[in-house]
Amino acid sequence: NTSNSRPASADATPANAAEDPVARIAALFERTRARSRTLAAPLAPEDMMIQSMEDASPPNWHLAHTTWFFEEFILKPHVPDYETPDARFAFLFNSYYVQAGPRHARNKRGLVSRPGTEAVMAYRAHVDEAIGALMSSRRNDLEEIAWLVELGCHHEMQHQELLVTDLLHGFSYNPLLPVYSPPEPMPVAAEQPLAYAAHEGGLVEIGHEGDAFAYDCEGPRHKVYVAPYEIAERPVSNRDWIAFIEAGGYSDQTLWLMEGWAVRQREGWDAPLYWWQQEGEWWCYTLRGPQPVHLDAPVVHVSYYEAEAYARWAGARLPTEQEWELAARDHPIEGNFLESGALRPLPGGGFWGDVWEWTSSPFTPYPGFRPPEGALGEYNGKFMINQMVLRGGSCATPRAQMRESYRTFFYPHQRWQMLGLRLARDA
Ligand code: AVJ
Ligand code: FE
Repeated sequence: NTSNSRPASADATPANAAEDPVARIAALFERTRARSRTLAAPLAPEDMMIQSMEDASPPNWHLAHTTWFFEEFILKPHVPDYETPDARFAFLFNSYYVQAGPRHARNKRGLVSRPGTEAVMAYRAHVDEAIGALMSSRRNDLEEIAWLVELGCHHEMQHQELLVTDLLHGFSYNPLLPVYSPPEPMPVAAEQPLAYAAHEGGLVEIGHEGDAFAYDCEGPRHKVYVAPYEIAERPVSNRDWIAFIEAGGYSDQTLWLMEGWAVRQREGWDAPLYWWQQEGEWWCYTLRGPQPVHLDAPVVHVSYYEAEAYARWAGARLPTEQEWELAARDHPIEGNFLESGALRPLPGGGFWGDVWEWTSSPFTPYPGFRPPEGALGEYNGKFMINQMVLRGGSCATPRAQMRESYRTFFYPHQRWQMLGLRLARDA
């Protein structure tokens, strides 16, 4: 039994907030904003500016962009006397919302050293105060506005995950391999043999329904037929992955999709991102610095192409997102999320947390999906092409944003997020 070695990760919610949605969301806002400050606290001013590739953004930008989101979608349209500290921030910190106006080039975010972190923190404080005042006002449209604040908090939680994973990527180019959080020994855990759980499938309902917060792309809830299947009870481990490496998986073209093989050849992939060999042992770079690869922890930093090739080699396949969601209903949403502070996958996990798990499902709209009108309709809908769905949340994902219906999505070649996999097979 390894459960003692795995930290708890639930956020406490004040008791009075349970009934009143506005109070609950006001508390969520404070908690979420505070956590971004905590995540940035160990960083030096120079760290704040790192941008290692177009997909990754500097910490300073994440802190400002999440603030702009509250300003752009709540304060500017709904608070007539709101004054922005700097009207030019909208150009700098709009990410991709074409309907919200022109924006700075994504691949040049690391060159924007002004406003510096002190000015960005002042911007945050200014917006925090305005949102705080709004949430404690007596406006009769407060419930509707509170929903937007909740969206802003979930958005900021997504960026908390991006902040730490982007930072890891940036740091990885430094030969000194900086330590974000002090090294800590990995918990001891027994090897978990690979076991599969059988599911009947059938005509089932998939997706989000109801009043609780969810992103637009999680609905409409709809029926799908799922054939009987089996799904692994734990993610693929580093031990499993090393067996794949040693069996020549990275050099056996017959295991790979053509597109994946081309990327593998071009990039010279022969192990997950951040891995290297040292005196015959595999090591990896983590937010807690360089560490020996722990054989029983879930493998992380693999692309869809690698995950798919691995599954073929293992005589299995990736689950569809519907199979994943159905199976996840048997498991409470507990696991190694951002709140645990572990900051890397740990051995002994089950269904949730540790690593996002690639599914074989493309990120496409559910039947009947219509993006909402206006700029916020650009949040997810316009990305529904050429990306794959991942499920389950990772050690960098705040627990508070996970739901059974939660779908994240990345391009099949991407590896810098906490991406892993779980096997499935036909019954
Ligand atoms: C769902 C993680 C792919 O990184 O663009 C952040 C999250 N959306 N701001 C992304 C997101 C808007 C999104 N992913
Ligand atoms: Fe964003």
